[in-house]
Amino acid sequence: MTHAHTHTHTHDHDHHGEAEILDLDAQVLAEHLTALTGWLPVQAPPRRIVDLGCGTGTGTFALLDRFPEAHITAVDTSAAHLQRLREKACARGAEGRVRTVQADLDAADWPDLGSPDLVWASASMHHMADPDRALKAVHDLLVPGGLFAVVELSGFPRFLPGTAPEDRPGLEERCHEASDRFHAEHVPHRGADWGPKLTGAGFTVEDERSITVDIGTTDGSRSEAVGAYALGSLRRLRHSVAGTLVLEDLAALDRLLDTEGPNSLLRRDDLAVRTERTVWAARRTG
Ligand SMILES: C[S@@+](CC[C@H](N)C(=O)[O-])C[C@H]1O[C@@H](n2cnc3c(N)ncnc32)[C@H](O)[C@@H]1O
Repeated sequence: MTHAHTHTHTHDHDHHGEAEILDLDAQVLAEHLTALTGWLPVQAPPRRIVDLGCGTGTGTFALLDRFPEAHITAVDTSAAHLQRLREKACARGAEGRVRTVQADLDAADWPDLGSPDLVWASASMHHMADPDRALKAVHDLLVPGGLFAVVELSGFPRFLPGTAPEDRPGLEERCHEASDRFHAEHVPHRGADWGPKLTGAGFTVEDERSITVDIGTTDGSRSEAVGAYALGSLRRLRHSVAGTLVLEDLAALDRLLDTEGPNSLLRRDDLAVRTERTVWAARRTG
């Protein structure tokens, strides 16, 4: 494990296909995202939205669809992600509604992000070196009465049944146990309870909701995206666990990841996407 691998979360790297994973996540979980944006307890349709840690624009485009009057400022450290987001905006004819800002939200001073009435941060707040400071900055940014939606994954998605692979059952869970140990050290705020943190930053937490995702591959068109999503995710997972996994497990993981081999996970017909996302809706009341 080299040092560079441990910092994909903070700087302008697109190691190991992060952009592809973000896009596949958007594709596979599109309906769930629509449900989440539909649920947001906005008092009036927001007109100025900020998407913090926007990645390749999954939330940005879901919010543009949900709120047709809105303009969105999409913020990320990654120039490559922002470029991809702008290309998608052009392809949709929405470039006039999206502004991208490259910024490191860990920096003491944030660039001018306007006066949003909705701020959205999906799977990005846990990357902050000092999330409490970031939450306070969002509080100050929002107009009074504005809403902050924090979306977080309760863990990485699971793709394989517990019985897989046949020669090393339970492999995926063991990979996640190793990965959790890795992330506890490198991304300590992953899996945090954001409710008390939001309250501490001055917000009134109005609602919290968890959605459980369990998508099978019976639908053929989706099965290709699920396979690609599983492959990309487990490839990334391999990077965080290669140093700690027992060799037999690492070898079995490599057989799954070998798309040319007989054990390739793309040959399996029992892949699924199982994950849980939680969203906190927090209002600036003062
Ligand atoms: C897991 S991705 C989520 C992307 C997107 N919100 C989504 O839901 O698909 C996390 C994003 O946060 C960005 N990020 C991480 N640390 C950041 C920082 N300090 N400042 C700005 N963006 C950051 C990463 O570049 C990445 O695009």
